[in-house]
Amino acid sequence: MLRNRKKPSSYGVELVRNLDTFPKLVCNSDDYVERSRIGGAVSLVTYIVIIWIVISETNIYFDSYLNFKFMPDTDYNAKLNLNLDMTIAMPCFSIGADILDSTSQNLLMFGNLEEEDTWFELSPEQESHLRDVRQLNTYLREEFHAIHHLLWKSGHSFLYPGMPKRSVSPKEATDGCRIFGSLELNKVAGNLHVTAGKSMPIPQGHVHISAFVGQSAYNFSHRIHHLSFGDPSAGIIHPLDGDEKITDQNMALYQYFIEVVPTDVQTFLSKTKTYQYSVKEHMRVIDHDKGSHGVAGIFFKYDTSALKVVVTQSHEPLLQFLIRLSSTLAGIFVTAGNHFLYSL
Ligand SMILES: *[C@@H]1O[C@H](CO)[C@@H](O)[C@H](O)[C@H]1NC(C)=O
Repeated sequence: MLRNRKKPSSYGVELVRNLDTFPKLVCNSDDYVERSRIGGAVSLVTYIVIIWIVISETNIYFDSYLNFKFMPDTDYNAKLNLNLDMTIAMPCFSIGADILDSTSQNLLMFGNLEEEDTWFELSPEQESHLRDVRQLNTYLREEFHAIHHLLWKSGHSFLYPGMPKRSVSPKEATDGCRIFGSLELNKVAGNLHVTAGKSMPIPQGHVHISAFVGQSAYNFSHRIHHLSFGDPSAGIIHPLDGDEKITDQNMALYQYFIEVVPTDVQTFLSKTKTYQYSVKEHMRVIDHDKGSHGVAGIFFKYDTSALKVVVTQSHEPLLQFLIRLSSTLAGIFVTAGNHFLYSL
């Protein structure tokens, strides 16, 4: 019985021994030199690979990533700010800015936009500033998908520095009007517009009294220096900043259709509730004879999205990082193992 048992077990040992493919140290001097030379090279490479992996994995760990989530916007009562700064090629007395929304309140309920007489023609410095803003903005919009992570995380909010002041005032009389300020809007669809004449509130809304300005004086060429919603926040791009429209038609109607998307941003640096928007624009010339009806002017038609975007910045958990790192390193040890261990 005992002998019978012993035999298979010694076969087993033999079998395992044959399976062992690790090279054995043979005390033959030539062989020994050969092995250690290869082993040295391999272990050097292995060390470099390991150091490189540890460094890059650690970098990835300290880096963070962003999660984008959509969810219904449940903040029904919230107000949102509209920040506007634009210049129109008509003097202030001849135009009026007004806002109407689905709640039928008038502008006075929303705050106040200031008007300032100015020259529509820009000074050379101002022109180059506007060009820079426009170029940067176009670039950001086109490359947004490639760099948006960088933008959100960097805490950089694209509030361009304001337009530089004029160093010399032109001799001519002012011919333009700058309209700027912040309004507090209800979160419903609405329409902010600049048309000829001052507006007069009436129970059904308002009328623009434009008796003093002839149509031949209309010029709705304009520049939008800034248009944004909500508080400034990192990574938000304002598509209309730097926009410039010049027309030689008196009866031009510019329409901007704006979809405002509530956006909650939680980065390591800050936590903000803000708004992004996308815009489509349309221009046509009012000509009642040709069936193009309407009122000449600049119209911003905005609506808020029912879905909001939640952006959160997060880290890989430490444990996950350690496990991933050690399993990668273990893999290298196993692969390079033979030579590596010998050289130790
Ligand atoms: C409006 O003003 C701009 C800039 O001064 C000019 O280029 C354009 O021809 C004007 N348009 C009209 C309709 O007068």
